[in-house]
Amino acid sequence: MENNNNSTDEERIINAQETNGDKVLDLSLRPKKLDEYIGQNKIKENLSIFIQAAQKRGEPIEHVLLYGSPGLGKTTLAHVISNELGSNIRVTSGPAIEKSGDLAAILTNLSEGDILFIDEIHRLNKNIEEILYPAMEDYALDIIIGKGPSARTLRLDLPRFTIIGATTKISSLSAPLRDRFGATYHLNFYEHNDIEKIINRSAKILSVGIEDEPVKEIAARSRFTPRVANRLLKRVRDYSEVKGDGRINNNLCQAAFDMLEIDELGLDWIDRKILETIIDKFGGGPVGLNTIAAATGEDMATVEDVYEPYLMRLAFLDRGPRGRIVTDIGHKHLGRKKKGQSKIL
Ligand SMILES: Nc1ncnc2c1ncn2[C@@H]1O[C@H](COP(=O)(O)OP(=O)(O)O)[C@@H](O)[C@H]1O
Ligand SMILES: [Mg+2]
Repeated sequence: MENNNNSTDEERIINAQETNGDKVLDLSLRPKKLDEYIGQNKIKENLSIFIQAAQKRGEPIEHVLLYGSPGLGKTTLAHVISNELGSNIRVTSGPAIEKSGDLAAILTNLSEGDILFIDEIHRLNKNIEEILYPAMEDYALDIIIGKGPSARTLRLDLPRFTIIGATTKISSLSAPLRDRFGATYHLNFYEHNDIEKIINRSAKILSVGIEDEPVKEIAARSRFTPRVANRLLKRVRDYSEVKGDGRINNNLCQAAFDMLEIDELGLDWIDRKILETIIDKFGGGPVGLNTIAAATGEDMATVEDVYEPYLMRLAFLDRGPRGRIVTDIGHKHLGRKKKGQSKIL
């Protein structure tokens, strides 16, 4: 499919990464309590017991680590936990804490029972991590005063608080840091019917009328990800307001997706470009990540972290020792013949 090739990540609709537009939308759409949080039933059940047990003992909950792909609800869940506990939440992120003094300032300003949410915790500096160890384990902060031989450490007591860490890359988290979390929850991609529930809930909050069929169509393109579902709903709503009377029906929904160049599985032109490049220029693969990145004009990390996971989840792409391969069903989805095959599968 031809395109004008001027999309950025910020504009890419099916990108699960958070954009500024999402932040505004998120304020209204984010579930506040556990019973509004759709899906992830195992985690909810676990958390509910975890929270109630701590409350019974009159103690702050242990540190919690949430991990999973972008847009699956980690930030939302951190806020839900704080709402359930009725405690204050301070929000920061790994890259935002640059100096040890930044962390010390945050920690010394916490009160008993407060939650400190550290997003992208895998991006914390190693020397900052080391300050965090005693803080998490003993609620203590070791400060070094002075320099050279006369330097000494002073230990400050901290209130008992809870860290909720979120990460998309658990493997980048050091083992000692991982071990200091009392509970770790892995957020999975959502079931189709849970995504439908999320779309219906969001439509209600946004006061958008939507028929059943378009709910299914949007869900099918959501990449099993609530953030993408909400974003698609918003774009289809915009289209329906301009081209129709605002109520989302199947025709408007299909026309909106045609305009957005999003196919029935939620692939956009960049996904298709990646697959087509491998097929057309490299005979379906195997081909290395750097070659794909160069040939499509995307950067390597983006191809690997943003595009490939979904293509692999659909089993359109395989990652082997010699590089990436477009699978049989990947060929079939694009209506292409596999090398050496006489007809389309
Ligand atoms: N379980 C859920 N139920 C309903 N909406 C959800 C759920 N999880 C996420 N969302 C929606 O998706 C958006 C993205 O979630 P977020 O917590 O920001 O993801 P993450 O922090 O994992 O990237 C939220 O604004 C929220 O509206
Ligand atoms: Mg987040």
